Amino acid sequence: MLNVNVLVTFLLYAAIIVIPSLTYYCVMDIAFNNLKSSGILDLKDWNYVKGGKLYRWPDATYRYLKKINWYENFLLKTKEVAPHIYQLPNIVFVSPSANKGRIEEKLYDLFPKKIDFILMDYSRNIDGKANTKSNGKFTYLEGSFDGNSLKANLAKVDIRFADIIMDIRGCIWYSTDKKDRTGEGITRVFKEYHRSLNMGGIIIIDAVKLRSKTITRNQIFYKCLNLVLGFQEVSTYQKIERFLENDFINKHFHKEIVGEGSNCLATFKKIS
Ligand SMILES: C[S@@+](CC[C@H](N)C(=O)[O-])C[C@H]1O[C@@H](n2cnc3c(N)ncnc32)[C@H](O)[C@@H]1O
Repeated sequence: MLNVNVLVTFLLYAAIIVIPSLTYYCVMDIAFNNLKSSGILDLKDWNYVKGGKLYRWPDATYRYLKKINWYENFLLKTKEVAPHIYQLPNIVFVSPSANKGRIEEKLYDLFPKKIDFILMDYSRNIDGKANTKSNGKFTYLEGSFDGNSLKANLAKVDIRFADIIMDIRGCIWYSTDKKDRTGEGITRVFKEYHRSLNMGGIIIIDAVKLRSKTITRNQIFYKCLNLVLGFQEVSTYQKIERFLENDFINKHFHKEIVGEGSNCLATFKKIS
């Protein structure tokens, strides 16, 4: 009898909440993609503004990162992989796709105070962005900045080279998609980041390995119940992995994977 009750409750729940939510999500997704392919929307900008499909995404992710001690792990692991950088008297830390900049704010609090944080993003109308701090060590640049032109973007604030470029689910993530056969977009961003880095400088990307089942589960829980069980999409590393046997990247970078599970990061040190 109990089992029948559980089954009926489950079916009712599915009928009332899950099915309409999924239908709504699929219809919105198809509509957004149609607008994008017809060139009416530039998805990179629209997704993150108020009312956009990913508007609530950053806050949910920041809460999740806090829960798993991602920030402390980031500092620990990058210190292990690039001790030479942390010995420098001044360090330039650039985030080309910062969105609200909450990750950077948290890292700024944790990191040694000799680091200059420079934040920017392609989207200009992000609601609730981190504020530039008056001590000049934490600057969120106003305007739209494409990570594919990072060198020129940095020149606008008189910076010639960065020591750390952190690109978490940002410009590199957006430079490829399922239909991509050549990885041309990824090579282009790596070339630009290479031009923007000091020798020995590093690019850091997120590298958690997620199965599609887990992603679907996380998305359903988040969309239906506003519960964050984990990341909502594949990591940057997962997205670009198939293109990493690349002459340019092999020649100019030394790759290292650090950290475990949801805290996993991939670092690319500029070696030539
Ligand atoms: C999923 S959010 C990630 C934001 C942030 N790094 C984080 O982890 O919370 C992706 C961000 O990348 C930005 N973006 C996408 N393509 C970009 C590009 N070509 N140059 C700079 N930013 C870009 C988007 O505007 C968006 O703010």
